[in-house]
Amino acid sequence: MDTERLVIRRFVPEDGEDLYQYLSLPEVVLYEPYPVFSKEDCFREALRRYEEKDNNAFWAVCLKHNNKMIGHLYFKQVELEHFMTWTLGYVFNPNYYSQGYATESARRILQYGFEELHCHRIIAGADIRNTASWRLLERLGMRREAHMLQNATFKRTEDGEPIWVDSYHYAILASEWM
Ligand SMILES: CC(C)(COP(=O)(O)OP(=O)(O)OC[C@H]1O[C@@H](n2cnc3c(N)ncnc32)[C@H](O)[C@@H]1OP(=O)(O)O)[C@@H](O)C(=O)NCCC(=O)NCCS
Repeated sequence: MDTERLVIRRFVPEDGEDLYQYLSLPEVVLYEPYPVFSKEDCFREALRRYEEKDNNAFWAVCLKHNNKMIGHLYFKQVELEHFMTWTLGYVFNPNYYSQGYATESARRILQYGFEELHCHRIIAGADIRNTASWRLLERLGMRREAHMLQNATFKRTEDGEPIWVDSYHYAILASEWM
């Protein structure tokens, strides 16, 4: 898929290097349900995404002018199949924040979802402290549907107690996209 400045394509094994440039940073995975990745993890992950190509929810986002992979999108069908509902996620390299690349690529994947996959509804969730994430969802025209209290936990205290976090849930319907 193309946009004005970007190409959105499936992963290739060589993406491991670019993946490492951002998945190795603690600030990038702060609100993600996984810890930082090692270089080896990144090459393994790029290979996995490549091998599962047609059945994998991840899309690499690259700059059109130099093919640099600057982030990725996650787009996967959820709920019962006939609900026609997909969920959206995104992680970008901080060197490319604040230039509208995440918005431009996510908008294109919403278009793909509604116009080619015939999604009925696209949803996304964000930790309420992750302002950059939910502001992006609002730029895309998604509606905040819920503030969920302590509905997720990814980290534990030193005593092993779960640290519960609140999330905002967003959605957009095909009728709203049109
Ligand atoms: C979430 C994330 C992708 C958002 O990145 P981002 O850089 O804020 O988003 P964009 O690339 O769309 O850039 C938007 C900013 O660029 C500005 N901008 C500049 N040119 C623009 C353009 N052509 N189009 C849109 N926005 C543009 C916008 O005004 C906005 O500025 P602001 O941050 O001052 O409001 C990023 O913070 C990230 O990868 N975080 C780590 C992973 C993560 O937490 N993922 C979400 C888990 S739920």
